Amino acid sequence: MSTLESILKETRSFAPSDDFRHKATVSGMEAYNALCEQADDHYLSFWGDLARELITWKKPFSRVLDDSNAPFFKWFDDGVLNVSYNCLDRHLALDGNKIALIFEADDGEVTRVTYAELHRRVCQFANGLKSLGVGKGERVVIYMPMSIEAIVAMQACARIGAIHSVVFGGFSAGAVKDRIQDAGACAVITANESVRGGKSVPLKATVDEALANGGCETVTHVVVYQRTNGGAEWTEGRDVWWHKLVEGQAETCEPEWMNAEDPLFILYTSGSTGKPKGIQHSSAGYLLGAANSFRWVFDYKPNDVFWCTADVGWITGHSYICYGPLANGATQIVFEGVPTYPDAGRFWKMIEKHKVTIFYTAPTAIRSLIKLGGDLPKQYDLSSLRLLGTVGEPINPEAWMWYYEVVGGSRCPIVDTWWQTETGSIQISPLPGAVTTKPGSCTLPLPGVMADIVDESGAPVEPGRGGFLVIKKPFPSLVRTIWNDPERFKKTYFPDEFNGQYYLAGDSANRDESGYFWIMGRIDDVLNVSGHRLGTMEIESALVANPLVAEAAVVGKPHDIKGEAVVAFVVLKGARPEGEDAKKIASELKNWVAHEIGKIAQPDDIRFGENLPKTRSGKIMRRLLRSIAKGEEITQDTSTLENPQILGQLQEPVR
Ligand code: WT7
Repeated sequence: MSTLESILKETRSFAPSDDFRHKATVSGMEAYNALCEQADDHYLSFWGDLARELITWKKPFSRVLDDSNAPFFKWFDDGVLNVSYNCLDRHLALDGNKIALIFEADDGEVTRVTYAELHRRVCQFANGLKSLGVGKGERVVIYMPMSIEAIVAMQACARIGAIHSVVFGGFSAGAVKDRIQDAGACAVITANESVRGGKSVPLKATVDEALANGGCETVTHVVVYQRTNGGAEWTEGRDVWWHKLVEGQAETCEPEWMNAEDPLFILYTSGSTGKPKGIQHSSAGYLLGAANSFRWVFDYKPNDVFWCTADVGWITGHSYICYGPLANGATQIVFEGVPTYPDAGRFWKMIEKHKVTIFYTAPTAIRSLIKLGGDLPKQYDLSSLRLLGTVGEPINPEAWMWYYEVVGGSRCPIVDTWWQTETGSIQISPLPGAVTTKPGSCTLPLPGVMADIVDESGAPVEPGRGGFLVIKKPFPSLVRTIWNDPERFKKTYFPDEFNGQYYLAGDSANRDESGYFWIMGRIDDVLNVSGHRLGTMEIESALVANPLVAEAAVVGKPHDIKGEAVVAFVVLKGARPEGEDAKKIASELKNWVAHEIGKIAQPDDIRFGENLPKTRSGKIMRRLLRSIAKGEEITQDTSTLENPQILGQLQEPVR
């Protein structure tokens, strides 16, 4: 990638209000700049001081960073701590009666859990796991619905030093099996069923299927939380009910004191090729990243009610449900259901009911809620909100504006947080009491994050030019290795092209004149049209800016003359158009993109669907779309697809 052209022009900007800035933890740009300077000038003591301030150590560390075996960095490596102790025990002395979790079930039933109660439950379950023989360093797969128990299970693993590997409850048996095998798990924690959108989904049966026919002999126990009255097949000696396991267990459990670098968890993430990578995180460095970013980016205050809508099956649910908020002693919402049940007002209703102050969700959710009821938020009292956040993909400026005006009442800063499974915590994001936001930009790196954009020789690119997003110095919450595959870790993230020095994020991005970062998409989503390299996101944003369009995904397809042609898959706000209607709208949209960005970005081919093919986590399956665009037979695994029936629609060209 030599040059990558930035074609998106966004001129709106929003400074934090004086009131927000005055009350903020990091208040104003001077404060932000001072922190950045501190990190620039004294990188190690910057992180060392934070680690002493935010983590309670059993035994203090004597060295901040060991980089003698780069890129296998070690942070705080002779320090001793326990992550669960840091998330629970240390808050008990202050206020054990503070609410930790407000759990709202699919049907609206609410359960509140205090820190003291959560501590008790974690200890009992930890003792239960120990009674099954689960010990330090062993891997435990957690395949659970969004629940209090999912968090208890993760914290209990952390307490006894077992390494959890949470597998998203929407994955198929095949995916569960692969992950069990790769991790060599000794136990699986699951539920009989999960309940989402009024329907129950079998989980235990999926685990049974994963474990059937051999290949998972490492698994000796399956713990089953009984969520519904639905039964479960039972394998005597292997399967044990959660409620039976904790019966009679002691209500305290001495934490296993862990080395700072002992793995806390593995989380599998897919790359563009090959099998999923087991992203391995450390104990202390990871905890520091999650805890500190929670405090800075969400400007956390003790009275806040925080709500991150992610599932614990993803890194967002790890860092901003299970670890970051609990390490800070926060009160947060845990939601079992889906945003559209019983109707598309569910999120807004819950914000009103629980007086949520900080709300963190994904652009894909925002776009779907705009489509299903752009006016619905106005029917609810959302005045408790003071801060909004997004994560997962670039947010289209039009969706950003809707979020800002309709949900936030033009009052709440938006933190567009860029990070990855691999970075463990937020890396580029506005600090809301300091940084002026621009719709569609994740703005500036957090203090201590040496992010830059470089060309293929590793040289920084000039403003406005696109390139590879890199982080030039290791940081505490960075992935330590790929489980069982250190070579792949090195090759993927610290490639020789950059002398093995820079962490390569795999995203393309550009910076504007004020140094703001604009993420353009994953490197392998980049199109090359007539020698011009274009990020798909910018074309998508242009499409979504059209009043007819709810959502769009753009991919390339080989083209004899241009190299690649743009193919756009579009979901309209209204019904899916057909016949002459489709033709007319397609041509309108082509002209629109030509007008908004330039003819170079104009789609050759527009397909309409009622929806886009997405993984259960809401990520658009671009590889699948590329196959469809090329007219290839679909060979990809579509078993994890939320909505397989729309593939036929997208295969149908408009003519
Ligand atoms: C990829 C990481 C981090 C938790 C959820 C996803 C994209 C993430 C943003 C953002 C633009 C974003 C990037 C990144 N991404 N946040 N604010 N703006 N792009 O975790 O599955 O590891 O995906 O998501 O492409 O590399 P993940």
